Order: sequence, then C-alpha cells, then structure tokens
Amino acid sequence: MAMMQVLIVGSGGREHALAIALSLSPSVGSIHAAPGNAGTAMLGTNHQVDVSDIDGLVSLAQNIHAELVIVGPEGPLVAGISDRLREIGIPSFGPGSEGAMLEGSKIHAKDIMKKLDIPTGDVTKLDRYSDIGLFLNSNPPPWVIKRDVLAAGKGVVVTSEIEVASKFIYDSVEVDGFVIVEEFLQGEEASLLVLMDESGYVCLPPSQDHKRILNGDKGPNTGGMGAYAPAPVVTPSVHMRVLDEIVEPMHHYLRNQQDPYRGVLYVGLMIDSNGAPSVVEYNVRFGDPETQVTLPLVEDDLGEILLAAATGNLASLSPSFSDSHSATVVLASQGYPESSQTGREIFGADLEIDEGTSRGYVNFAGTSMEEGRLISSGGRVLAATGIAPNLAQAVDIAYQIIDSISLEGSHFRTDIGYRALSPKK
Ligand code: AMP
Ligand code: GLY
Repeated sequence: MAMMQVLIVGSGGREHALAIALSLSPSVGSIHAAPGNAGTAMLGTNHQVDVSDIDGLVSLAQNIHAELVIVGPEGPLVAGISDRLREIGIPSFGPGSEGAMLEGSKIHAKDIMKKLDIPTGDVTKLDRYSDIGLFLNSNPPPWVIKRDVLAAGKGVVVTSEIEVASKFIYDSVEVDGFVIVEEFLQGEEASLLVLMDESGYVCLPPSQDHKRILNGDKGPNTGGMGAYAPAPVVTPSVHMRVLDEIVEPMHHYLRNQQDPYRGVLYVGLMIDSNGAPSVVEYNVRFGDPETQVTLPLVEDDLGEILLAAATGNLASLSPSFSDSHSATVVLASQGYPESSQTGREIFGADLEIDEGTSRGYVNFAGTSMEEGRLISSGGRVLAATGIAPNLAQAVDIAYQIIDSISLEGSHFRTDIGYRALSPKK
C-alpha cells in the first residue's frame, strides 16, 4: 500500500492518541492535524484551522492531498464534514450528518433504539414549566436530566436533590425550549467502540471511563478523567449480550441507510447486576479518554483499518488485539470542569517508560508550544498512559508519569481503575 497522507481533525488527547497509533502504522506516510496540539505537532504538521470551520477543513484536506481524514470531535460530523469530503472523493472516517444525529439529538437516538427494541432507559420530554413540579413529585429520584444539545458531556445532571433538579430543568427549558428526563439506570458503566461500515463491524476492547471529577465517582460530570481497558465488567457473556441485543441491530439499521454509517459508533453501556446491558448514550466518534487506552491494544495497522472503514471495506480485515492492559490518568487545569486556568507552563511532561512489555507516555490534550515552552491551553491538559501485562502495573506506570509532571493548580483523580482493581487508593 502506498504511504498515505492523513489529516486528523481535533485537538484533544484523543487526537494525539490517534496520531501516535497512525505514526506506528506502515500505511501512513505523513500526519497532519487541524488544529492539533503540542502532541500532534511532535508527530506531524499542525494547521491552524478550527474544527467549526468546515469550509477551511475541506480546503485544507484538498490542499495537502489528504487520502484519509479522521474526524475526532462530533461537532464537524454533525455539521456535515464527512458528506462534504465524500462528495469530492476524499475518504472520511466518521459518519455523514444524518448518521451523526445519533449523537446530535438524544431524542432521535432514543427513537431509533425504541424502533429497534434496543434496551435503554425510558425518556420524557418536558417543555412546559407547569409540568415540572408534577413530574418531580410523581417520579422518584435520582433524576437524570439532559439538555438535548451538544454539550461535551456537561449537559447532563444526575441528582437526588429536588432543588438542583428543578433548577436545571427550569434553566434548560428557558435556554433550549425543552429538556429530557431519563429513567435512572443502575449498574456499572462501560464504553464499547465499534468500528463499522456497510460491509461489517469490529468491536475494539471494551473500556471504562471515569466521568466524575472526584475520586469514588463523586462531584460533577466531566469529559472524562481517566480510563482503562479492557474493562472486566464486560465479561464474555455480557459481551455476547451486547452484540446480540445492541450492536447487531444497530449495525443492521445503520448499514441499510441511504448513506451508510462509516466510522466508529461509541456505545455507552450500563451493565446491571445480572449482566444485562442497556444503552446510556451513543456517540459518533472515538471517546476521550477511552481512545488513549483502546488504540494501544490494536495490534494491526490502524491507518489501514480506518481507511477500510472510511471506504466501506472493513469486512476485508480482521484486526487482532493485544493481551495487554492499559490505563490513562487525566491531568486537568485548576477550576476544571466549571472553568479552566490556562496559559501556565507545564514541567516534566517528557517522561517515557519502555521496559519491553511495559511502557508509558504522555498524551497531550489542551497544550501548545510557545517559544519552546509547553503551555496549558484547555481544561483537560494531558493524560498519562501506561500499558502493561496487567492492570495494576499499567495504573502504576500512568501514576509514575503523572507524578513527575508539575502544573500549578492542576488536579487528577488518584483512583483510576479502582472498580477493576480490588479496593485501592
Ligand atoms: P451522557 O452524556 O448521556 O453519557 O451522560 C453522562 C453521564 O451521566 C453518563 O456517563 C452516566 O454516568 C450518567 N448518566 C447518563 N444517563 C444516565 C442514566 N439514564 N442513568 C444513570 N446514569 C446516567
Ligand atoms: N469520555 C466520554 C466521551 O468521550 O464521551
């Protein structure tokens, strides 16, 4: 295969993880990122085009003769970047705008699940202030309240406090005209990234994200504070049920659309105490930080795999996965998730560990290089990733790296992987 020019759209830890895996892919010649970050700049060329500038991104792909575009965040997918790229013959990894509505509208996703009889919580739409009190009084807590807008994981409140619930509902109805309230699902969460196109699908090793800001899954939701893979909550029998009850019907539906889904379907799962899975949410992109722990377990050429999915040829490949375990710990800026202090220098982020079967490195996220100095530029600044023969070692490597980094006011969780490791930290 000729060496491809690849363009990655986005600037997070996920995009650096993609760049790392692509830099190890024999099929990939050069890597470009828009806008990228300090990590992608080390592996290729960053271009200052914003992810909301669809015209600019399409022109960039043409100008650099991109042979594959990989779209990290959901925004440009919902805005139709893949449709535009396909029209001009550039393969794009990521669904067209219609497929992207699975993430663009939670109500749309629920309607499809209902139609396909896929297990998920019931949902109620509230759009009249007069219904709010009655709803909260007649449905027991905890309440799961979601704005039906793209909110980077922050438009969701799960609470048992009636004042918090009613304020969030009122505020959301005021801004958006309506809000949705979902049935509370009990159990343990897992994330399954499924590569798919009209020819077939491939499940990557399941992972578990840590969405809350504080240890023990306390405090507000974030974009994700750490992750590990594989997630043992997805036992072989749970995996079988997820395939039968969720992945197969979704794939059958998506492959038969006029514009078949090509990209990754992120299935956010809740597994109850009997091993029964249900869908918490779909995303139409790789997860962040799930990507940081999932891609290192893919043993084959990622460039070739993503190109196959982008061109409808995924069934021609059968990727293999390593037996290793991986863990990643996110370092967040002071104030995150409510706000973030940026523009501070980061020290010590260059530790790499390579001990044969165990390795570790930094995935850069909200960072940039300014006059040779590494500067924080976002809420989630970086993630330290460890890969090792078992999870405890992978977690240790990730913490060894995170402990060597200093950034004023930054914070991280100290219990990543705790559900899979016997009670720890
Ligand atoms: P979402 O953006 O829909 O994934 O929601 C963010 C997080 O809120 C999820 O990862 C869960 O931790 C929690 N959550 C969302 N929906 C539910 C639900 N129906 N039941 C329980 N927890 C939920
Ligand atoms: N880590 C959660 C997400 O990417 O949506």
